Amino acid sequence: MKRYKIITYGCQMNVHESEKLEGMLSATGYFEAADIQSADLIIFNTCCIRGGAEDKTFSNIGALKKYKEKNPALKIAVCGCMPQKKDTLERLKTRFPYVDIIFGTHNLHTFQDLLIKSEVGGRVVEVWEKEGGIEEGKPYSRRGATGWVNIMYGCNNFCAYCIVPYVRGRERSRAAEDVIKEVTELAAAGTFTEICLLGQNVNSYAGTYAGEPVNFEGLLKLLCAVPGDFKISFMTSHPKDLSDGVIDLIADCEKLKKSIHLPVQSGSDRILSAMNRKYSAAYYTGLADKIREKVKGAVLTSDIIVGFPGETDEDYDMTLQLIKRVRFNNLYMFMFSAREGTPAFSLPGQIPLDIKRGRLIKLISLQRKIQKEIEADIKDKTI
Ligand code: 5AD
Ligand code: SF4
Repeated sequence: MKRYKIITYGCQMNVHESEKLEGMLSATGYFEAADIQSADLIIFNTCCIRGGAEDKTFSNIGALKKYKEKNPALKIAVCGCMPQKKDTLERLKTRFPYVDIIFGTHNLHTFQDLLIKSEVGGRVVEVWEKEGGIEEGKPYSRRGATGWVNIMYGCNNFCAYCIVPYVRGRERSRAAEDVIKEVTELAAAGTFTEICLLGQNVNSYAGTYAGEPVNFEGLLKLLCAVPGDFKISFMTSHPKDLSDGVIDLIADCEKLKKSIHLPVQSGSDRILSAMNRKYSAAYYTGLADKIREKVKGAVLTSDIIVGFPGETDEDYDMTLQLIKRVRFNNLYMFMFSAREGTPAFSLPGQIPLDIKRGRLIKLISLQRKIQKEIEADIKDKTI
């Protein structure tokens, strides 16, 4: 009986893709190991969104060498976003010769074949440069109360700091029938209190239903009709694509969770434009007001990057002002990390680390204060 352990880094997309790897592994007769020490196969499903994530992963892959020395039969696989990028693929190939299987995001569905290949022929490195079509029918091994369902893959937005469009390819949407079938099956299982629709930018979903085009609003309407006692949520939304129709639907449809993750990234128009975000701070605050007005009890969360190249104290201050104005229920805050291959990597005005760190710390404490006030306010209202 063979046992596997998967270590997953990064976003929900990776978490869900690890569920797919688990599904393929259990179909191949593998069981989950209690820990790394007792595994016959260790898989690192990697993330490359920030340099810190990469460094940590490289160091953890380095630490596996001693396991391989103790147990030469151990198989090690590295997949996900890091192999999909040229510089990290090269480093994986040359500096970690004891890694047996290397594959990318575009050929994750071929994992069972790669496993067989490595069993008969030794090391396998297969990374598709371009995305293929959408592979339906692979099993998922799901756990927990949230059922993750992909509705689209890839991103066309090319925000100046972001590596995702380069490692995940262009947008491809699943057919609505396939999404509905999956959601119906999860609902019928009765074990999921929430079904979360996943995509890099769900609002630009462009699928088909009965041969006709269907957008995100149309898909949500179809999914709201699926019977069962569960809530529907989704992530991530790009502010430029979140339509009034979708906001109205969140307000009106009981099945839709009243929470929206809407990354703003910065409160300065100059920085938003340099980031290629295609909206202004005023547009964003207007959108947030609209959501709060229409959706009773809306929970609004966001992402912020501090220290984007050229960000002055004034730009940073505008971000703080926006945060004070919108009062997010939760915020994911990051220091800009220059990713090779993205436009922001070579922009002038890179911000020194100590300034970025100072800006992040101040932002975190502001957000903490706001969240405490929101919580106290909720308590007051319930007493
Ligand atoms: N540096 C810092 N943060 C980044 N993000 C994406 N790329 C970078 C980068 N190069 C953040 C954005 C995005 C979130 C998932 O990660 O805020 O919304
Ligand atoms: Fe990256 Fe922008 Fe696409 Fe989000 S919308 S994945 S931040 S390029």
